[in-house]
Amino acid sequence: MSEELHISQGADKKRVYEELIPQIEALIEPEADFVANMANVSAALRQTFGWWWVGFYLVRNNELVLGPFQGPIACTRIKYGRGVCGTAWKESKSILVPDVELFPGHIACSSLSVSEIVVLLRSSDGKVVGVIDVDSERYDVLDECDVLYLEKISEIISAKFLA
Ligand code: SME
Repeated sequence: MSEELHISQGADKKRVYEELIPQIEALIEPEADFVANMANVSAALRQTFGWWWVGFYLVRNNELVLGPFQGPIACTRIKYGRGVCGTAWKESKSILVPDVELFPGHIACSSLSVSEIVVLLRSSDGKVVGVIDVDSERYDVLDECDVLYLEKISEIISAKFLA
């Protein structure tokens, strides 16, 4: 595939994801390296949606450790059950936080980030192996539509995970 994304300008968010997802599949399908794929998925998402920060944390020895991302520097380690990422891992479910001030224990890697989504990466046996974290500096851009499609993207990349 060419190393360019083709997304219709002005399309609604659902259509943007529907256009983006096959391109993400084509981008990662020929590549076995999980780090390379996480790097390109982060870039594809940030380039498409312009979020403040988007990236991966991976489970390493009962902690989440920062993986490939796009955006400003971020916290490198998050404990199980801490912050939005560690809570999503503990509760084994996606979390949408429309206002981070209202999420007790939220970890503010950047004071400019005001809303957040975390979805899980799972290995083939269903174990949580990491998360995708999205942060926005706006209150009105992240919603259930993003959760739904980020979960699909997470499934696509999780399928390439080799422990
Ligand atoms: N806000 C996250 C920490 C990671 S950064 O946002 C990149 C959390 O509360 O888990």
